[in-house]
Amino acid sequence: MTLDYTNIQKQSAIPKASSMVETFRAIGYSLETAVADIIDNSISAGAKNIRINRYWRGGKSVISIEDDGCGMNNEELIQALCPGVQNPLEQRNKNDLGRFGLGLKTASFSQCRKLSVISRKANYAPVFWSWDLDYIAQSDKWEVIKWIPEEFKNSLDNKKSGTIVVWSELDRIVSPDTSETNQNAQEKFSHSLDRVKRHLEMTFHRFIENKIISIFWGEHPIEPWNPFCPDEKATQIKATDYIGFGSGATMKGFVLPHKNQFSSEIEYRRAEGTNGWSAQQGFYVYRGNRLLLAGDWLGLFRKEEQYKLVRIQIDIPNSLDFDWQIDIKKSKAYPPAKCLEQLRSYASEVRAEGCKVYRHRGAILKQRAGICFQPLWLEKKKDNKWSFVVNREHAMVLSIKQLAKDKPEFAIETLLKFIEEAIPTEAIYIDKAQNDAEQKQPYSDMDVDVVKNMLIIMYDNQKAMGLSDIQAKASLKSIEPFNNYEYIIDEL
Ligand SMILES: Nc1ncnc2c1ncn2[C@@H]1O[C@H](COP(=O)(O)OP(=O)(O)O)[C@@H](O)[C@H]1O
Ligand SMILES: [Mg+2]
Repeated sequence: MTLDYTNIQKQSAIPKASSMVETFRAIGYSLETAVADIIDNSISAGAKNIRINRYWRGGKSVISIEDDGCGMNNEELIQALCPGVQNPLEQRNKNDLGRFGLGLKTASFSQCRKLSVISRKANYAPVFWSWDLDYIAQSDKWEVIKWIPEEFKNSLDNKKSGTIVVWSELDRIVSPDTSETNQNAQEKFSHSLDRVKRHLEMTFHRFIENKIISIFWGEHPIEPWNPFCPDEKATQIKATDYIGFGSGATMKGFVLPHKNQFSSEIEYRRAEGTNGWSAQQGFYVYRGNRLLLAGDWLGLFRKEEQYKLVRIQIDIPNSLDFDWQIDIKKSKAYPPAKCLEQLRSYASEVRAEGCKVYRHRGAILKQRAGICFQPLWLEKKKDNKWSFVVNREHAMVLSIKQLAKDKPEFAIETLLKFIEEAIPTEAIYIDKAQNDAEQKQPYSDMDVDVVKNMLIIMYDNQKAMGLSDIQAKASLKSIEPFNNYEYIIDEL
């Protein structure tokens, strides 16, 4: 319902600049998501080369992000610096990575107190303006100032077009009074920047792989990090499926190779990513080729060790931003409720495959060697209950039987040692977690005669050691597994 506003009293309620910018600072960017958001703008501006420079100067450290995109003239730059001039509801070019018209400002303010931009559009002179949070605090006005750190003033003089975003007074990364010689702080700074680099390798890997852009870390080009290891021969690639009908969103599952199947240990380590194998499993959501979310089951499953080789690519066009609730920081997405079942069912299939690869390294080894693989432990299934038994046909078990004839003690010790070492904990863990069948209760189908014979021997031994009947029985009841067989002990 639209009201008739003509006769209603009005009063202007302009946001207070000094408090509003503090709100902008609190949107929750990390340094890596903030830098990525600035690079999105460079890509949307058609840049081919993007360079990130870091200048360690203690509390006066600076980060700059430079591109050779289309650049802006004076009016365009002022527009660009104005928060929210572009309506988020507007339809965007499909290559446009922006949405809310806020990223440049919010990402920058989340990290620094001074955001300076110098830009040059072809056939125009370079122009620069800065947002300075100290000036806003003082003046309480939405005013940019004609200032930029001196060293950047002439930096676009010899370029046809491009933009440099400069962050100085990085108070969220280095506290303002830090001296340049503070090694601890310097290490922290460089560690934070390492994370940024790895984040960029991942977030923009498609752009780098497809030679749409090069990102330089200082002088060095950043290598792309592809979560799906498509060049590894043993990577399983599943069929692409549409998510929903006619939405343009797709998904594609990947099962990465088992460690033994990777081309090299180095590749295996690299594929692990920043947070480790287990943390990197899950969906990878791309919007316009840019990775938004890396390794997240979107609330559908928990992360579990046996699915660590499973990564599923989801591609959504920017026209679905609202359906997928893309947030300002472009680091979150929530699939529409109507797609959840489809995602769950597709992912379940890929996860099942992934689990097989994870547990069947033995089987894979066997195939490779072309000889029959002999596990020491066998998985047994009976009446829909699982358990593990020692493989009596195992060549070593047979040899130990031989050995026992001459050196019984040594034979038993050797057998116990090998059995201890080979306990199939990984497989047991998976069986427990998958819970389609139940674990067999220990001793539930044990032959009672075996127990009884053993008890008789032990009872006689106890008596021979001078224990009374009552003492011997009490002692046996405290020994595993005989504590489960009190009724046999009482009959002895
Ligand atoms: N590196 C750049 N090169 C050219 N134009 C830019 C650059 N960065 C920002 N802009 C302009 O500033 C506008 C606002 O950017 P931003 O605040 O990140 O919002 P959004 O990306 O959602 O549009 C962009 O739409 C673009 O027109
Ligand atoms: Mg943007």
